[in-house]
Amino acid sequence: MYPELTAAQENWRYLPEENALAKKTILVTGAGAGIGATTAKTLAYYGANVVLLGRSRDKLESVFDWIETNTPTQPVIVPADLEELTQDSVAALHDSIESTYGCLHGLIHNASALGPKVPIAHYPIEQWQRIMQTNINAPFILTRGLFTLLDTAPFCCVLNVSSTVGRQGRAYWGAYSASKFALEGFSQILADETETAGRIHVYSINPGGTRTAMRKAAYPMEDVETVPLAETYMDMYLYMLEGPQPGKPLPPTGAQLDARSWKPPTNR
Ligand SMILES: NC(=O)c1ccc[n+]([C@@H]2O[C@H](COP(=O)([O-])OP(=O)(O)OC[C@H]3O[C@@H](n4cnc5c(N)ncnc54)[C@H](OP(=O)(O)O)[C@@H]3O)[C@@H](O)[C@H]2O)c1
Repeated sequence: MYPELTAAQENWRYLPEENALAKKTILVTGAGAGIGATTAKTLAYYGANVVLLGRSRDKLESVFDWIETNTPTQPVIVPADLEELTQDSVAALHDSIESTYGCLHGLIHNASALGPKVPIAHYPIEQWQRIMQTNINAPFILTRGLFTLLDTAPFCCVLNVSSTVGRQGRAYWGAYSASKFALEGFSQILADETETAGRIHVYSINPGGTRTAMRKAAYPMEDVETVPLAETYMDMYLYMLEGPQPGKPLPPTGAQLDARSWKPPTNR
């Protein structure tokens, strides 16, 4: 356990049982820093084996070490640049996850790049394409290549980490905003395609302003002490990833979730 998680739990709207995610395997992209690192540690704390995918090996190793020291779970690191993903590299990842864990119970498309905050008229084309590659093409390529692992699990949850500017466009947010709109669409398409079989639940999540390097880059003058830590809203992630339990309703697949205003749904 670490102090930030203990403090956050006091205000969680949903408190899972200890080991709520035991025997689950969940892949988190961008797991080396920010919300992704907190997500990975929280999921492992609740018993999940976490596949830590990210760009910087040293950051992934630091999260891996914390998990190894503080939990009995079996994490694995996958250093990978989402800009460079190919069908072959994802096929190799698929085979390695299959042989180690059998299937995936969760896939969290968390990593993303902010890019420059400039008007469309001046947005560098090459940077636009790179942001799109990381923020929407990579989630598509990963989901496509790992799909059979998701579809094998009795219940699987795909979380697409979006943003306020993925639901309402805003000047100067350029490719970041457009890519999050695309991710919202991707989320709805995947949910619609998998709804009848019912094994895969897909949600888009807006975490809201969170104290990370990306937030600092987007709002450099902001007092960071006023911005919630990533641990604050991990209850919502846990609720979705834990999946169905007796007496516990899940939001309909394809739903757009907002971490700040979310409350556990009731049966009434
Ligand atoms: N923080 C907020 O206020 C906020 C608000 C709304 C939505 N979000 C969303 O929440 C998610 C997490 O954001 P965050 O604030 O935690 O961001 P962050 O602090 O910038 O962390 C992003 C993580 O993604 C990784 N990443 C970026 N590009 C990558 C690539 N090409 N290949 C592999 N990994 C890559 C980074 O790796 P490196 O460390 O190696 O660069 C880093 O670990 C994002 O989807 C973001 O859009 C955040």
